[in-house]
Amino acid sequence: SWTTGNIVEEQVARIRAQVGNSRVICGLSGGVDSAVAAALVQRAVGDQLTCVFVDHGLLREGEAEQVERDFVAATGVNLYVADEQERFLTALAGVSDPETKRKIIGREFIRAFEEAERSIMSKAEAEGEPIRFLVQGTLYPDVVESGGGEGAANIKSHHNVGGLPEDMKFELVEPLRALFKDEVRAVGAELGLPAEIVGRQPFPGPGLGIRIVGEVTQERLDLLRRADAIARAELTSAGLDDEVWQMPVVLLADVRSVGVQGDGRTYGHPIVLRPVSSEDAMTADWSRLPYDLLARISNRITNEVDGINRVVLDVTSKPPGTIEWE
Ligand code: XMP
Repeated sequence: SWTTGNIVEEQVARIRAQVGNSRVICGLSGGVDSAVAAALVQRAVGDQLTCVFVDHGLLREGEAEQVERDFVAATGVNLYVADEQERFLTALAGVSDPETKRKIIGREFIRAFEEAERSIMSKAEAEGEPIRFLVQGTLYPDVVESGGGEGAANIKSHHNVGGLPEDMKFELVEPLRALFKDEVRAVGAELGLPAEIVGRQPFPGPGLGIRIVGEVTQERLDLLRRADAIARAELTSAGLDDEVWQMPVVLLADVRSVGVQGDGRTYGHPIVLRPVSSEDAMTADWSRLPYDLLARISNRITNEVDGINRVVLDVTSKPPGTIEWE
């Protein structure tokens, strides 16, 4: 019967046949798909692969380390890290409009990726081995969804970090094209990837940049990152990771409300919890999380994150709400 081991063997053979002795490049986003695609290509052609991780500073706590340390430890892959946090903060300065933020993040991501790539390419060319292939973590549902191209629902411009710049002359390697998400996770586990990577819930390419309602600044990112880490840790220790499709944590950066703490009045920002259950993210319902879990998250965030004095719960289904706030 068809096992995960078979899938790995077959894809490894196909990748070898396609790539031969050429060099390959792959963008890592921190997500499951790019990690599993890269791990398959690494298994197939080893050091011919170089992975590029553009750190845009919009990931959650611990996620950059998962790529830079844990993924490398698990696969032995060659990794090129581009620390681009300043670039993104500068480009996002003064911008509050959601679509504009998405466009800026997408554009800067491509620029940063291309720069990283040029420096890897010139090194490879100097060594007489130009890069000919680019790995993409395209899944079967992505193939179906973008099938016709025209008229595809575009409620939000879905920018996938790792997306293909238009003027690139690479041939694509897409080892996940026939697979569904659960198969991709199984392949990742078979390849020895850490559970934090293969089990990761969906996370948007533009990252925390679209979970700050208002302008994105370093200070706001730090606030949101801390609140998000607490909410995720509590959800995990309540054992509800599998029941909840994802739980965006959103900072309402332009809203402030009065509160009280100790003998003092506070004037802080609210954090929104947006736990949803869903099959495919096309529709969703708000998750009925246990009250004691919500209480723990709320207490911890308001006590531990200076500047946040309220936690609110989003009880809107999709439609009419989307899962993300921007
Ligand atoms: P919405 O907010 O449209 O989100 O209900 C549906 C699903 O898509 C994720 N999402 C994104 N994923 N790039 C991605 O790779 C994006 O730009 C993006 N925007 C939203 C969202 O987290 C949810 O799982």
